[in-house]
This record gives sequence, structure tokens and C-alpha cells, in this order.
Amino acid sequence: MQTIRVNASQSYDVVIGHNLLDSCGERITQVSKAAKAAIVSDDTVYGLYGERVEKSLKAAGFEVVSFTFPHGEASKSIAVLSEIFDFLAENHITRSDVIVALGGGVTGDMAGFASASYLRGIDFVQIPTTLLAQVDSSVGGKTAVDIKAGKNLVGAFKQPKLVICDIDALSTLPEEFFIDGMGEVVKYGMIKSAGLFDKLSRHNLGNIGEILEDVIAECVSIKRDVVENDEFDTGERMLLNFGHTLAHSIEQYYNYTGISHGKAVSVGMMMMTRLAEDNGLCRKGLTDELTACLDRYKLNISVEPKPYELGEAALNDKKRMGGSINIIICEDAGKSFIKKMPVPEFLEMLKG
Ligand SMILES: NC(=O)c1ccc[n+]([C@@H]2O[C@H](COP(=O)([O-])OP(=O)(O)OC[C@H]3O[C@@H](n4cnc5c(N)ncnc54)[C@H](O)[C@@H]3O)[C@@H](O)[C@H]2O)c1
Repeated sequence: MQTIRVNASQSYDVVIGHNLLDSCGERITQVSKAAKAAIVSDDTVYGLYGERVEKSLKAAGFEVVSFTFPHGEASKSIAVLSEIFDFLAENHITRSDVIVALGGGVTGDMAGFASASYLRGIDFVQIPTTLLAQVDSSVGGKTAVDIKAGKNLVGAFKQPKLVICDIDALSTLPEEFFIDGMGEVVKYGMIKSAGLFDKLSRHNLGNIGEILEDVIAECVSIKRDVVENDEFDTGERMLLNFGHTLAHSIEQYYNYTGISHGKAVSVGMMMMTRLAEDNGLCRKGLTDELTACLDRYKLNISVEPKPYELGEAALNDKKRMGGSINIIICEDAGKSFIKKMPVPEFLEMLKG
């Protein structure tokens, strides 16, 4: 088991290891004096792990109530959030109680936002059960729901009191979601760790399980460092967006249904690195190495739109600032920087 301390506006531990669900109650007593714990989970994850988590919480002395919602991004909405608020109120959850988010990024983001706003803020603990949530969304305090105008447009910064990553929970995760999370894992290697990138380039989907605890811990450490330097996303945290500007345009092109986020990010990273290479902004050969690495995790896919067709949608992205856009470039594996580019120059670059 590994413990990573995050010193943001609130300090907390991220524990990563095997068979942690059965001891989650005990661990939560160490960070909360709550009498009641309100579990928020989607129907799939609750069906798989709800009973074990409830049992552990009860054994540790908590009174437990559970709210479940239909799995999937469509539930990350104001409507479901409103149901969560009603549920918390009906069950007399007070400001000294605790919300336990059990599930993937959808659950963590929405339960996190509920905990940021219910009674002006109550404590919450993350128990992420997807690879993406373990390496990314459960750490760093970004919480949100989607609205018609776009994803994650209503939310708050709210750090959890504790994050419990049980690697064994990933055993039931469908492969497509595991692959999706690997897109973000490769991104961490590219932006901050040549060592991680090298490790990933020597493993594949079949044997990454052998080093998964270390890989997750390394990703969390990278995210921790970035968040500690820039909790509120005004500078270095933008590095985490590597590949994401074009990815959002690609997802939009496919109406958010034809391609998964992790695959879109992978294509975004490959396109951006190719453009950087063509413009002398990164080491020659890096795009081929990135492509080969992504290939090992079934993430080397091609998409219909060409980079220049993605420019306009990218400019609608929240990364646009006035007449310029911040793009993330990796000059080598593990070495990234933010490049502020005038919009015309960015569009020109996309033409190749
Ligand atoms: N807050 C952040 O910093 C941040 C960062 C990245 C992504 N996100 C958000 O994360 C969300 C995507 O997260 P996600 O990919 O985890 O999606 P998700 O929560 O919808 O989970 C994906 C699917 O896997 C199922 N599932 C989860 N754990 C399982 C398990 N252990 N076994 C079997 N099935 C399981 C879920 O029921 C769901 O159907 C998006 O809404 C995105 O905006 C947030």
C-alpha cells in the first residue's frame, strides 16, 4: 500500500493498494467525526461494491444511508444533483456528516459538487473505482456537473478529506473503460515523467496489471505536484490538458458518443506532437514513440477530421483567452510547457 499526501488548501491522503474497501470505514473515522455517512454511487458500482462499503462503514460506527443513480455521463446533471440534495436533507445529513463518493469520475464529480454546496459545504471522501478516477478525477478537488451548454460548466473546487484507491475494484471494470483511463496515464508520462513513459512503453494491456499500483501512485504523485503548485488552475495545472484541446473538438465532432474521452485525448496528443515535431518544437521521433506506446493500450486509433478541421471547435474551448490560446507541447517525453499562441498562428499550425 502507498500513501501520498496532498497539501492543497486542505491536506489529505490518497491511499493506493489492494483490498481497501473492507477497511474504508476505519480509515474514514481517522479523518471525520461524522455520525452519518451518505454514500453516493451509480447503480452498477453500488451493485458490485455498495454492500461491502456499507458494512465497513457500519462496523466503524457510522449510520449509513445510500443514494444511487443510473450510471453514465447523462446522470451528471443538475436534475440528479437536485435529487441528491433532497436525499441528504430528507435523511437529516448535517454539516458534520460525511459524503462518500463510491464510483468513477461521474460519481466523484457530482458527489463532490454536492458536498461543496450542500449546507455551504460538508466533508467528502472519494472511493474511486475506475482507472481514470483513481489517477485523475478523484485527486485535485475539481467537482462539477454538466449543463446543456457543455460539460463541467457548473462546479466548485472542493478537496476531499481522503481518497481510497482500491486496485482490486478495477478487476470488474470493463476493458473499454480501463483503456480509456490508460490515455490519461500515458499523458502523465508525456508531460512529467520520462521514467513512467518508458515503463509504459515496455508493458502492454496484458501485463500492465503487474505494475499497476506503482503506475497509479506515480500518476497521483504527478497530479499532486501540479495541484500543489496551482490548485485553482491559473498556470501549471494547464499542463494536465495536454492533448485535451483537440480532444474536445474530436469529441464534439462525434457528438460525444462516437469516441471515448481517453481515445480522443490519445488522438489529440498524437496530433499535437506531430504538429510540434513538424514545427521544430519537439524532439524528432517523439510522435512515433508516443504512437507506439499508445498502440500497446489499443489507443492508437485514427479519426475522420484532420487537425485543421478541429481548430474552430478548439477555439470555443475554455482554453481560449482573448486573442490567443494556450496549448500544451511536449518537447520530449516527460518535458512539457505551455505555449501561448495568437489564434491565427494556432490555426496556421493546424494546417500543417
Ligand atoms: N474532476 C476532475 O478533475 C476530472 C478529471 C477527469 C475526468 N473527470 C470526469 O470524469 C468523468 C468520467 O469518469 P469515468 O470514466 O470514471 O466515468 P464513469 O464514472 O461514468 O464510469 C464509467 C463506467 O464504469 C462503470 N464502473 C465504474 N467503476 C466500475 C467498476 N469498478 N467495475 C465495473 N464498472 C464500473 C460505471 O458504472 C460507468 O458505467 C467525466 O464526467 C469527466 O468530466 C473529472
